[in-house]
Amino acid sequence: MPSQPGPRLLSLADRVPAGRPMADIGTDHGLLPVWLLVRGRVPSAIGVDLRAAPLRAAARTAAAWGLAGDPRLSLRQGDGLAPLEVGEVDTVVIAGMGGRRIAALLEAAPRRRSALRRLVLQPNTEARALRAALQDLGWHLVDEDLCVEGGREFLTLVAEPGVGAPLTDAELLLGPVLLQRQAPAFRSWLVREHARLQAAAAAARAGTGRVPQPLAAALEIVAATLGVDAPSS
Ligand SMILES: C[S@@+](CC[C@H](N)C(=O)[O-])C[C@H]1O[C@@H](n2cnc3c(N)ncnc32)[C@H](O)[C@@H]1O
Repeated sequence: MPSQPGPRLLSLADRVPAGRPMADIGTDHGLLPVWLLVRGRVPSAIGVDLRAAPLRAAARTAAAWGLAGDPRLSLRQGDGLAPLEVGEVDTVVIAGMGGRRIAALLEAAPRRRSALRRLVLQPNTEARALRAALQDLGWHLVDEDLCVEGGREFLTLVAEPGVGAPLTDAELLLGPVLLQRQAPAFRSWLVREHARLQAAAAAARAGTGRVPQPLAAALEIVAATLGVDAPSS
């Protein structure tokens, strides 16, 4: 049996609208577009990667699932959204890159972006910067998911075109949907994030005698959300 997606890729797959063409930017192994086609969820899928080696891996994944030469799957080499025709897909997935990098790929493609109806994004860092960039680009968050794979949490953001209510600092940092839902996985993540920020603040205080403002602000927001006291900086 060829390799199957784990919870991280399934969190993305579940948020790709059924019946609409999609593209996976930075597809690497190609398992997401292949899986969506195998499951019959999308009529066509495009896997894009900057480098040739990942696209060869994606072609092997397609062959393993019986999709070699299938006209519904297109694998293209190129930078970000550039290999897509304007209006060719409704949904773009970008996963496994930093939030600022994902934002830069979206900012670099205004015409292609404006023809999209949904973005499904999985930043591995800098979620705050990505939420802020989406807001600046005139997109709003309609869903957020935290899933666990290999003992690590992964965040999925789903955005659609249209300006929403301006996000507060807490919503930018922690996610408007996650904050509203208060799911158990989010609360557990918040407790660990609080411990991580506290350790970083203690290290900064020991090293320079002060806690940098962005770190102090993040700690204050996380502590307030958890309902515990933030240490004074
Ligand atoms: C860590 S992998 C993530 C793979 C897959 N999206 C996932 O989440 O499992 C990142 C992939 O993005 C590709 N990549 C990086 N920058 C890119 C760009 N500007 N355009 C297209 N692909 C890019 C890399 O070559 C690599 O294959």
